Amino acid sequence: MEAIRTRRSIRSFKNDEISDEDAVKMLEAARLAPSAGNKQPWTFIYIKDPQVIRMIKNCSPGFYADATAAIVMGIKKEDEKRGTLDVCFAAENILLAAHALGIGGCPIVSFNSDAVREIINAPKDWQAILVVSLGYPDKVPSPPLKKKLSDIAYLDFFGRKWERLDVA
Ligand SMILES: Cc1cc2nc3c(=O)[nH]c(=O)nc-3n(C[C@H](O)[C@H](O)[C@H](O)COP(=O)(O)O)c2cc1C
Repeated sequence: MEAIRTRRSIRSFKNDEISDEDAVKMLEAARLAPSAGNKQPWTFIYIKDPQVIRMIKNCSPGFYADATAAIVMGIKKEDEKRGTLDVCFAAENILLAAHALGIGGCPIVSFNSDAVREIINAPKDWQAILVVSLGYPDKVPSPPLKKKLSDIAYLDFFGRKWERLDVA
């Protein structure tokens, strides 16, 4: 809960390099994520070459910071329906593992998918679903406003209040 509570989307990074050991830990966290039917349809491309990161950033309007590394996460186009969900689970694992290692990250969905595919030499039948930027946090934003539990969760039936949620 502590890691979940304190994780933030980081958009400002220091120059410090991420060790390969930590990179592998984050990829391992992704590998262990749940997936529909245990299909594990995903591929993760860990990018640490600054030139490649810059090229991806240049075609990604949602990529704000000069990140130290990035992970492009994607699936075969034929797996789009369930695979997209699977990638999201793996992405959260990456973000939480990164946070536990003192590394910040930000999920990025605003990017030119075809351009990213070409930059990383991925095949035409494959598509990038999410890019995660990574690096040691320079600035950690204050927590954004999150909805109250009692506004988004109910008990037994849709819309039925649960008083316990008022205290959370
Ligand atoms: C599917 C998804 C796509 C996102 N895309 C972007 C993005 O393109 N650029 C960006 O800066 N942040 C992006 N974010 C980060 C959200 O803005 C961030 O999670 C939200 O503001 C809540 O802040 P928090 O992550 O610190 O709790 C994305 C988050 C999710 C879940």
